[in-house]
Amino acid sequence: MGLFKKKPKAEKDRPVPRHIAVIMDGNGRWAKKRGLPRQAGHKVGAETFRTIATYCKDIGVQYFTVYAFSTENWKRPPEEVDALLDLFRKYLKEAAETMFERGVAVRVLGDLSPLPPDILELIRETGEIADTLGPDAATASLCINYGGRDEIKNAVRALAKEVEKGSIRPEDITEGDISRHLYTAHMPDPDLIIRPSGEIRTSNFLLWQSAYAEYYFTPVLWPDFKTADMDEAIDAFNKRNRRFGGV
Ligand code: FPP
Repeated sequence: MGLFKKKPKAEKDRPVPRHIAVIMDGNGRWAKKRGLPRQAGHKVGAETFRTIATYCKDIGVQYFTVYAFSTENWKRPPEEVDALLDLFRKYLKEAAETMFERGVAVRVLGDLSPLPPDILELIRETGEIADTLGPDAATASLCINYGGRDEIKNAVRALAKEVEKGSIRPEDITEGDISRHLYTAHMPDPDLIIRPSGEIRTSNFLLWQSAYAEYYFTPVLWPDFKTADMDEAIDAFNKRNRRFGGV
């Protein structure tokens, strides 16, 4: 079964958020409950990513973004880090083979500098295919070696360099200039951020971009997360009254 392989289903009669982001949490606990190594939870979690990303595309969500590896995750045992890197290899290869045909742009966001060369090559390849799909294609983004504070720090550094060069004055820097220097410059801010596994915190995910996002927390562990759970999250989102600071 390939990434985005399912036939598009008729869109349900309800609006869907333009951009949904997920903190794919609970893989370790899912594995522990079954007496399995943590890697087993990540493997099923990656399959859940495939199912849910495909579902989001089918129901008309234009951007789907997941937190796959944080800047802090390198501290995990080497066998767990290696297993995650292997999953990125597998899914990026699969994406490179299928995304053109499925019309889904797969992108990787984060500080990619410490990743192994073969993964960097796969990211370059998928990025090239994504570029040919054009700006209207559904987009699935994997955040790898991503940290919200790290991302903002990098944006500040880039703007400081522009100031140094004299191409912008400090007093002219706008919020839009900051957004333009983030990994997500090419996409709208997330409307809905889902965190499974019962944890209620943001964990350094999309700190700048989440300013007006609606959060949805569920006790379901990510490997157990089904399309029905996505439906529930979207229904809850559709009941929220988003005021963006107004009344
Ligand atoms: C957090 O759960 C999850 C991660 C650190 C990794 C998420 C990565 C995947 C699901 C695989 C992604 C691969 C692709 C190709 C999308 P945890 O391990 O901290 O779980 P715990 O809190 O229960 O220990």
